[in-house]
Amino acid sequence: MVRVCVIGAGAAGLCAARHLLVEPCVSQLDILEQAPQLGGTWVYTENVGYDDFGLPIHTSMYKSLRTNLPKEIMGFPDFPVPESDKSYLPAKDMLAFLKLYADKHGVTDKIKFRHHVQLVIPKQTPSGELWDVTYKNLTNGAIETKEYDYIFVCNGHYNTPFIPHIPGLKEFKGDVMHSHDYRVPDIFADKRVLVIGAGPSGMDIALELTTVSKKVILSHHLKEQPRTEFPDNLQQKPDVERLEGDKVHFLDGSEDEVDVVFLCTGYMYNFPFLHESCDIVVEENCVEPLYKHVVNMKHPSMCFIGVPYYVCAFSMFDLQVRYYVRSMNGTFSLPTPEQMAEHWEEEKRDRAARGFTRRQAHMMGPDQEKYYASLADEAKTKTLPSVVTKIRDESMIRFFHNLKNYRQDKYKIIDDGTYEIISNGKREVIC
Ligand SMILES: Cc1cc2nc3c(=O)[nH]c(=O)nc-3n(C[C@H](O)[C@H](O)[C@H](O)COP(=O)(O)OP(=O)(O)OC[C@H]3O[C@@H](n4cnc5c(N)ncnc54)[C@H](O)[C@@H]3O)c2cc1C
Ligand SMILES: *[C@@H]1O[C@H](CO)[C@@H](O)[C@H](O)[C@H]1NC(C)=O
Ligand SMILES: *[C@@H]1O[C@H](CO)[C@@H](O)[C@H](O)[C@H]1NC(C)=O
Repeated sequence: MVRVCVIGAGAAGLCAARHLLVEPCVSQLDILEQAPQLGGTWVYTENVGYDDFGLPIHTSMYKSLRTNLPKEIMGFPDFPVPESDKSYLPAKDMLAFLKLYADKHGVTDKIKFRHHVQLVIPKQTPSGELWDVTYKNLTNGAIETKEYDYIFVCNGHYNTPFIPHIPGLKEFKGDVMHSHDYRVPDIFADKRVLVIGAGPSGMDIALELTTVSKKVILSHHLKEQPRTEFPDNLQQKPDVERLEGDKVHFLDGSEDEVDVVFLCTGYMYNFPFLHESCDIVVEENCVEPLYKHVVNMKHPSMCFIGVPYYVCAFSMFDLQVRYYVRSMNGTFSLPTPEQMAEHWEEEKRDRAARGFTRRQAHMMGPDQEKYYASLADEAKTKTLPSVVTKIRDESMIRFFHNLKNYRQDKYKIIDDGTYEIISNGKREVIC
């Protein structure tokens, strides 16, 4: 019988709890969530900076956000998003979905809300390695330390801004802001804005800013130019070479004047509560040493849910949780630490050979199906149907080349390998 601590009640933590609650080998389950409600990223608030308890505001959600993937592939394998007439949903619908999921599986009542995890530290005991977790009850300020056999780290990875090194950024005369703090476009009314980064947030927000700003410059290094037709007040530029006063110098030698530098440069993995004796190191956004991006190799009774990106997030969380729970309950045994380390080194060599940088250590994209199959095979569980990755690929292409209208597309899953898409009144079946 084991005692398990889940840190965080976003989609990943809820999914972990959903499986752990019905797992016979689990005798005690604590789900610790610092916020007063579940849902993590999907909770919208106007507030930025710090909350009432002095903790950094967690969510990066902005008001106008619609999902960048169709809801048909955003549910859990055993709990799809309910049918409705649209595929791309506002954040509040995704939050409602997560509440439904948690309620249906008896998770909500088990969550200790307003409990902030401060420290996780391993300790050696005669019966093996255990964990001490120290957390603060934010309601009354009481700090407590409790012992667990297993730790699920589900604290989310889109909260700590990544600020790239750009010469002159510190001295820049105008405002500098990161997309983590973006809520509504009004503050950019009539401004000249330099948006740096063309990921999902950068593209969406740049387009939104064109409705209020005088001028939007979208600076990026995408290998392929998006075919999206942007409004006339949006101009694409290569990477920034340096900033000087209110001037931007681009790599192609051109220059421009701007009022605001708006960083859509992504986020950093951050585990402030892990004591260094947990042996988890984050360098250049690579979290090590993790076996299959899930298991802490140095302390295999600690796992991480949700580290890979460019994935079908909730489905992958579910597969990672099923994988790890099966290692807990004896369906299979994890390899030895040496074998796990060798597996990871081999994966890193393979990724490097294919041109992935260290910063992209957890990027899946084209590697998704292989990754899902490798988890499923080892744990003797079901992998994700290929239709979810197929729809993901299709949606991403349409995002890129038809940013203005792709969210009107409607998808329907027909079977594990086949889907239907209705776009611009035309219906197509793809397998
Ligand atoms: C703007 C934006 C748009 C996105 N759009 C999409 C999309 O369209 N489709 C998609 O699939 N994905 C999208 N994502 C990714 C999204 O983050 C994931 O889909 C998923 O919701 C992440 O879930 P999570 O549980 O890993 O993290 P989170 O949702 O961040 O949840 C982590 C939870 O842990 C809690 N926590 C953290 N630290 C502590 C602590 N020390 N003690 C206690 N509790 C703690 C937090 O309060 C939070 O509730 C988007 C992300 C962002 C930022
Ligand atoms: C946290 O503090 C509040 C207020 O005192 C209390 O009602 C609640 O039970 C505490 N939580 C736990 C898990 O002890
Ligand atoms: C182990 O866990 C998996 C996943 O939750 C479950 O399907 C399986 O029945 C469990 N096996 C045992 C022996 O409990």
